[in-house]
Amino acid sequence: MSDPPRDTHFGYRTVDLDAKQGMVDDVFRSVARRYDLMNDLMSGGLHRAWKDALVTAINPPRGDKLFRLIDVAGGTGDVAFRTVAAGGAGTRVTVCDINAEMLGVGRERAIARGLDAAVTFVEGNAEALPFPDKSFDAYAIAFGIRNVPRIEAALAEAYRVLRTGGRFLCLEFSTVDVPGLDTLYDLYSFNVIPALGRSVAGDAEAYRYLVESIRRFPRPEAFAAMMAAAGFRRAGAQPLTGGIVALHSGWRL
Ligand SMILES: C[S@@+](CC[C@H](N)C(=O)[O-])C[C@H]1O[C@@H](n2cnc3c(N)ncnc32)[C@H](O)[C@@H]1O
Repeated sequence: MSDPPRDTHFGYRTVDLDAKQGMVDDVFRSVARRYDLMNDLMSGGLHRAWKDALVTAINPPRGDKLFRLIDVAGGTGDVAFRTVAAGGAGTRVTVCDINAEMLGVGRERAIARGLDAAVTFVEGNAEALPFPDKSFDAYAIAFGIRNVPRIEAALAEAYRVLRTGGRFLCLEFSTVDVPGLDTLYDLYSFNVIPALGRSVAGDAEAYRYLVESIRRFPRPEAFAAMMAAAGFRRAGAQPLTGGIVALHSGWRL
């Protein structure tokens, strides 16, 4: 049998699978403190609407019933805080991220908002989650999966930690298919975003990586096939804002 492929992409560069994770970690370590500000600036605030669509789909119960969400690649906790705000007293969110700097910013915020009982921060890799089988009611990953070198491994882990009847939700940049919007989006992505990255976060390269990694991510149909291969049922996607972003969903049934 031949060895599995060792190469993947870091933006448009071909790199070793293990090297990619190190490069991704450098990107987020360097931007952790300014990450949320950059999100607002780069998306013109749209990331808030996209995350609201994700939280609506997560649909945390309003009452006291225990509801356990794992927010993988959850970074500074934005999706976690929004989910707790939308849910009832039984809502618990575990933010799991590979980057200690991003988690550190999130932990400080949780304490400042008095949410440290409802939201916990755990360092871990999406490809090998440090949690038992079937331990969550829902799994969310927002703008995270394209950074993971072995997406198939992350999907298998998502399936493993979800209980039967649990939902997988993935918010990710997608493919703009609206004529006119695609050209504008290209101009914006390859010029404005790296320039913003340079002036606000002091790092144009990190933001060039971001744009390139977005373009390399599989189209919704291809990603749905990967989800189905991991065992998810009713795999599909809903495009948001002309396809700039898609909300992918599947169920462990
Ligand atoms: C663009 S940020 C998204 C943060 C957050 N979900 C949000 O939407 O604001 C991507 C996050 O993915 C994390 N990440 C990258 N590779 C990862 C991996 N293999 N396992 C877990 N997290 C990872 C990074 O550390 C970073 O915090």
